[in-house]
Amino acid sequence: WPRNARREEGSVTVGGIDVRDLAEQYGTPLYVYDEEDVRSRAREYAAAFHDGDVHYASKAFLCTAIAKWLNEEGLGLDVCSGGELTIALAAGFPTERITLHGSNKSSWELEKALEVGVGRIVLDSFEEIARLGYLAREHGARPKVMVRVTTGVEAHTHEFIATAHDDQKFGFSRSSGAALEAVRRVLDLQQLELVGLHSHIGSQIFDVDGFEVAAHRLAELLVAIRDEHGIELPELDLGGGYGIAYVPGEEPHDPKAIADGLRAIVARECRAYGLSLPRLTVEPGRAIVGPGGVTVYEVGTVKDVEGLRTYVSVDGGMSDNLRTALYGAEYTAVLASRASDAGPMLSRLVGKHCESGDIVVRDLWLPEDLAAGDLVAVAATGAYCRSMASNYNHVPKPAVVAVRDGRSRVIVRRESVEDLLRLDAEVEA
Ligand code: LLP
Repeated sequence: WPRNARREEGSVTVGGIDVRDLAEQYGTPLYVYDEEDVRSRAREYAAAFHDGDVHYASKAFLCTAIAKWLNEEGLGLDVCSGGELTIALAAGFPTERITLHGSNKSSWELEKALEVGVGRIVLDSFEEIARLGYLAREHGARPKVMVRVTTGVEAHTHEFIATAHDDQKFGFSRSSGAALEAVRRVLDLQQLELVGLHSHIGSQIFDVDGFEVAAHRLAELLVAIRDEHGIELPELDLGGGYGIAYVPGEEPHDPKAIADGLRAIVARECRAYGLSLPRLTVEPGRAIVGPGGVTVYEVGTVKDVEGLRTYVSVDGGMSDNLRTALYGAEYTAVLASRASDAGPMLSRLVGKHCESGDIVVRDLWLPEDLAAGDLVAVAATGAYCRSMASNYNHVPKPAVVAVRDGRSRVIVRRESVEDLLRLDAEVEA
């Protein structure tokens, strides 16, 4: 839940407004962001990494409003597609604080990045090194680049969101020597300015050991590069992945503890090898926007499946929150429309889609008298819900509302079926 959310019997108040009023005004399903929550987390990361850079991983959720908030809080932006870059530019985000990622960037994306002059481009394949070298020459540009390294760390998280073990598609592997070969090829190209190495080990990680191993292995690479080429790369980007609490008992990382830990390990490694300290960048996404987001749904049906559990269907589902179906993610949800004295019933919060895996919350306790028309609020949906939303079953995407100091406003409009029809090329008049 957002830090300043108030949860009393049957009501949830975000940014000073009861979600009942938001549902009434904007309809459901509705994504609600507590602006101050997002901003305060951004500020804390910026303060913790005052001697480095914090680039918000915009894949977690991006729209122009969010980009403006984070710009005002002094963060940079990690974008991983031309689409994300376009939104950032539309928000007036300073291009020198944007890093372009992507494991298969198109020429259009690379050219756009060169045209607007993004601060960093993270290189992910040998094809891309050659292509960017060529395009940079065409554009008369000399972009700053980083080489993405797969450090071989087994992050303790879901298989689909771990990214640094050897058997996956990202970056250049350290163990095979590909990372050093990538560095060689980049240094051969006058058009590219190599400023550092990048590593992202995965997401929703609570165990800091993985980051330490990654930092250690990157430091070893920095030494190998110094020994081979006589240069010390000035920057190290350690990616994101800091876990947040979705359900009670999960202990999120404190940004200051993360910063102190990473700084200490990098300093130790550098001292050991006689390297000067590189400037550190981190790329938290979920940890900035996750806790500040809440999704509000209206209950449509309550179906008791004898002896098993009660299926509570809401007016959204896997089209606005794919994470449960995709990763078996866990969430917390509460009744948000009224107080109830009824006893608890074992419930499964499901969506309206034509699929049994369309589950929002697998197991939760809701009051026995829950009925159609009740509102249910799901916590910690600020990251990777709207950004992974789909139009499955031609269900339009919900609106996104920001709330602050008792005032609310739409920051992304609700889709309509007309929006969906607009792209259909053979509609009868
Ligand atoms: N940097 C890079 C290069 C990344 O690939 C990612 C996430 C991040 C930073 C930010 O990670 P975060 O701090 O948000 O964990 N859709 C999945 C997460 C996939 C994230 C992919 N990359 C989910 O819903 O959990």
